[in-house]
Amino acid sequence: MKAIILSGGKGTRLRPLTYTGAKQLVPVANKPILWYGIEDIVAAGITEIGIIISPETGGEVQAKTGKGDRFGANITYILQEEPAGLAHAVKIAQPFLGDSPFIMYLGDNLVQSDLNLFIDAFKTRQLDALTLLCEVPNPTAFGVAKIDDEGRVLALVEKPKVPPSNLALVGIYLFAPSIHEAIAHIQPSARGELEITDAIQYLIDHQQKVEARRIQGWWLDTGKKDDLLEANRVILDTCLQSSVDGDVDDKSQIIGRVSIGKQSKIINSTIRGPVIIGDNCHIENCFIGPYSSIANEVSLIEADIEHSVLLKGASIIGIHHRIVDSLIGQRAQLKEAPQRPKALRFMIGDDSKIEVM
Ligand code: DAU
Repeated sequence: MKAIILSGGKGTRLRPLTYTGAKQLVPVANKPILWYGIEDIVAAGITEIGIIISPETGGEVQAKTGKGDRFGANITYILQEEPAGLAHAVKIAQPFLGDSPFIMYLGDNLVQSDLNLFIDAFKTRQLDALTLLCEVPNPTAFGVAKIDDEGRVLALVEKPKVPPSNLALVGIYLFAPSIHEAIAHIQPSARGELEITDAIQYLIDHQQKVEARRIQGWWLDTGKKDDLLEANRVILDTCLQSSVDGDVDDKSQIIGRVSIGKQSKIINSTIRGPVIIGDNCHIENCFIGPYSSIANEVSLIEADIEHSVLLKGASIIGIHHRIVDSLIGQRAQLKEAPQRPKALRFMIGDDSKIEVM
């Protein structure tokens, strides 16, 4: 079996971060979202992985992720010139996939589930497609499935106005090579994309075997800021292990599960876990509260932060308000004005959001 991970697309919902970077590389607990998918796939014994990339962010995805050695995988990069749909991504991956059955994994999804369970069901039931489902309160935001009592899929609709159920399609699919013929027969949807839901519907309409399984653990689609913060909270809650590599001075307090990377300095600060701090950070006179992820090379002086994600090289100096529920981009700087009157002064990228209370 092979795997493809879709890491193209435009990432409009995570702007402004995604003007300069791929949304799949935004870190959750200091690790790119995409890497969780690669690790899941390798854990299921699949090592031939194709990653679909876009012209805008593909170079960065490739440079950061590499050829796969660090994961024990062999990664092939497949360029998709336009984000023409999930089924279009499968179409251009066909030379890589050949006639192998495969897993398709959406690179912005985080799922807590052992893929082996689904691979076993797919193989023993000799399916053409297996989709994974999860009950959601807002099915209109997803692909939605209608299934019968035996788990057979009767119909699929992409982002329906009137959903036939509350079962959303999770961004992991298993396919037999028959999906290629289905894709060859579908037309672009009203939004101009070749939809994978239409290709699966084609299989259903042609009496091929399409089933669904519900996932048991959590599933997070990291498309927007609040989803990303929630993913960060869940991963820190469930996966973080304490480890202190950096220097913590006598005046600092480390409470709960906290990971501190190499060469980081914690001076006169309180860190209340779960918190992850990367390498080469400088943290002085700060409170860092639960569910915060601080990437490498971040500088925090007289700052008070909780439930937030800070990207590489960000700095916050002398902001005497608690910063909560925030996502702060690479090299962004927040600092107190040097003298009174303390006016607020900004230089903020397009699509940024700031709430001053
Ligand atoms: O997250 C689950 C949902 O993912 C499913 O419920 C939907 O049925 C499915 O269509 C998909 O919906 P999204 O609106 O979330 O898809 P998005 O455009 O965000 O793309 C998902 C991933 O695939 C993302 O990492 C970008 C990548 N992608 C997307 C397109 C359209 C590509 O690599 N190429 C593409 O052409």
